[in-house]
Amino acid sequence: MTQNIRGSLMRKINDEVLNLKNSPLYKYRTENNFLPVIGEGSQTAKIMFVGEAPGRNEAKTGRPFCGMAGKILDELLTSIKLPRENVYITNIVKDRPQNNRDPNPEEIEIYGPFLDRQIEIIKPKIIATLGRYSMDYIMKKFDLNSELQPIGSAHGKMFDAKASYGPIKIAVLYHPCVAIYNRSKLPILKKDLEILKYH
Ligand code: URA
Repeated sequence: MTQNIRGSLMRKINDEVLNLKNSPLYKYRTENNFLPVIGEGSQTAKIMFVGEAPGRNEAKTGRPFCGMAGKILDELLTSIKLPRENVYITNIVKDRPQNNRDPNPEEIEIYGPFLDRQIEIIKPKIIATLGRYSMDYIMKKFDLNSELQPIGSAHGKMFDAKASYGPIKIAVLYHPCVAIYNRSKLPILKKDLEILKYH
């Protein structure tokens, strides 16, 4: 797939999400002048990070992980010398849920197919899930239901799966916001990220 085709498929996703009037989050977005957050980074990335849903800073700027959780993610990427521009970063849900609440099943169902299309465009070799919603969605998508476990035991583990375009690895990580209120968790997050180091 050429860069041009990837770019136009991504723009199509952007346009569709922008006009996603049947989303329960559409009204909240437009009333608050928020932007959808489609994703950011290299469209040929080997590693794709998938978070949950945009927070306030993200919905204001249209960029994923640019607030406090983003600072932690940047720190984690730096710790394994992985430049942010070399990876692709996105979320399952592309619009901000009210008051930073967790995304609900209806929202995941509406926005999930856009993430599925992004995976087919980028064709990452590794998907790093950030938080339990992302872990659940991605592991189920790649037929890893039998390996599903609470994130407290799954974090830091890598699972082999099969994508439509070939083998893929799923790296399960805690959500970076875990370290916002509890900096003592940062070493655990950094250690988990090391599973990405040699890929
Ligand atoms: N939390 C997420 O899950 N995604 C973002 O983009 C920001 C915070």
